[in-house]
Amino acid sequence: MYRTHNCGELRMENVGEEVVLSGWVQKSRDLGYMMYTDLRDRYGITQLIFNEQVTEKELFESARTLGREYVVRVKGKVIERQSKNPNIPTGNIEIEVTDLDILNASKVPPFTIEDDTDGGDDLRMKYRYLDLRRKPVQENLFFRSQLAVETRSYLSKEGFIEVETPVLIKSTPEGARDFVVPSRMNKGQFYALPQSPQTFKQILMVGGFDKYFQIVKCFRDEDLRADRQPEFTQIDCEMSFVTQEDILNTFEGLTRYLFKTCLDVELPQFPRMTYDDAMRLYGSDKPDVRFGMQFVELGKEDLPEGFPVFDSAELVVGINAEGQAGEYSNKDIKKLTSWMQRPQIGAKGLVYVKFNEDGSIKSSIGKFYSDEVLAQWGEKFGAKKGDMLLILSGEEEKTRKQLNELRLEMGSRMGLRKPDDYKPLWVVDFPLLEWDEDTERFHAMHHPFTSPKKEDVERMLNGDHETMKALRADAYDMVINGVEIGGGSIRIHDRDLQSKNFDLLGFTKEEAEAQFGFLLGAFEYGAPPHGGLAFGFDRLCAVMMGQNSIRDFIAFPKNNQGRDMMIDAPSPIHDEQFDELCIQLNLPEEEA
Ligand code: AMO
Repeated sequence: MYRTHNCGELRMENVGEEVVLSGWVQKSRDLGYMMYTDLRDRYGITQLIFNEQVTEKELFESARTLGREYVVRVKGKVIERQSKNPNIPTGNIEIEVTDLDILNASKVPPFTIEDDTDGGDDLRMKYRYLDLRRKPVQENLFFRSQLAVETRSYLSKEGFIEVETPVLIKSTPEGARDFVVPSRMNKGQFYALPQSPQTFKQILMVGGFDKYFQIVKCFRDEDLRADRQPEFTQIDCEMSFVTQEDILNTFEGLTRYLFKTCLDVELPQFPRMTYDDAMRLYGSDKPDVRFGMQFVELGKEDLPEGFPVFDSAELVVGINAEGQAGEYSNKDIKKLTSWMQRPQIGAKGLVYVKFNEDGSIKSSIGKFYSDEVLAQWGEKFGAKKGDMLLILSGEEEKTRKQLNELRLEMGSRMGLRKPDDYKPLWVVDFPLLEWDEDTERFHAMHHPFTSPKKEDVERMLNGDHETMKALRADAYDMVINGVEIGGGSIRIHDRDLQSKNFDLLGFTKEEAEAQFGFLLGAFEYGAPPHGGLAFGFDRLCAVMMGQNSIRDFIAFPKNNQGRDMMIDAPSPIHDEQFDELCIQLNLPEEEA
């Protein structure tokens, strides 16, 4: 028998019992006549004690050979500890070992396998099997598993059925590049891995399935960040005969249920904010509403001519950092300005106006504007004594984006972004299309299957180019604490409207037919009105646990270069495989 108990469950009431435990040696302390060893498994840590006076010499010598991460089985008696450890649940007892079996030895691990580790990211990923033994990583994955179980439980009770859709498919445009897989049997042809099961779930609706969900892997070849992985997981959902309102309510229900059952957090009702308001007040379509600091614009009436930068700017807009006037010296402001001027943000400069406690006003542009004018701004921003305005100017879209970064940074610095303060909202009424100046083309803001609002259908079918820019969609995102947790839309279910949309997006009739003929075809056989959304499951896990990186919620994640450091993928393939697939490599010289 390997174990009668696990390493996390023995307590005072077990004292006197004979037990068998198995696990990994976390660490040992050798006092010469006595040895203490921490034995670890996924349930906890139990202290073993080898006492020279009590145990046989052979056993004691064997215990001395134990290294970190050895796998052992021990038999012994539960005894009360002399010096108790209040920090762990098993801290009142220890096991006086009478039998020791070394089940497997271990090389010295390259980093410490404790809550805080000295291993860097790449090392941890290369030895992920060791990293996975660490409690914080295990806890994240237990949480993920619980979240998946509760999701299935809730959606099943609501009448959703889980359907698996294929992984070897044809391109589904979600805005990223496809990963492609060559077909041996159809030479010169490729499958694409799904960026999402979007078209399949719509086909399921045409197939009469009514309420679908799937916890599903998606693949996107895009630039990676803390909240983006090339393969990630969605809770993908679709419903028929529903309005946007039905969908928002259903999935707000799921989210509230998950927070309640997995975190015991009662979420407030989700407020709704239009895309336009989100951009105007926060400069972002995923506003972090844990704190205010909304944007305030200065118009012509606030800006008597004199400061050329503001005079010529398309937009002058700022935030009020409450209570910060006294916190920022000239040097601090300089540093903050340099931070804003980094290429990642690209602001040209940063203007401040301090309303000091003594009633004086100090500003970097004090020589261009009188105190009366600055006081008028203060009023507009709702600033009190001790507050500091931070103002940017320039081209409208860029300036809003830059101020969004500054607002988030100030929110963090001021401690206003607490990870366990959950503030969800729906952002609604997204534009249908986005005009790209560079390629002179429209892109779908969500994806090409998203429906315009009912009142905009007529304008979409018959309007001119400018009209198209103003079309609104029945598209929505769920945002929690500034993270886009999920997004979806009501879909087009009419062939002609779908064709028109492909047309606007620059597909020729032939291209649309070749890529999406199956969907257009399905729409000719009684497609019901339908809509849905997909949650980023990894992101949901991370936000619920108050963490930034989704990597720590994925058992085997990729690094920022898209590499799996453990299995060392991607990797070259054999020449025979190329031959079989009729593929010739044509690497740029520096990579060959
Ligand atoms: P969308 O592209 O908005 O919608 O994706 C839905 C959610 O998936 C998460 N997500 C990601 N998570 C980790 N790594 C990535 N690379 C990544 N990309 C996206 C986000 C996002 O909100 N088919 C539509 C949904 C629909 O219309 O029903 C779709 O995929 O949290």
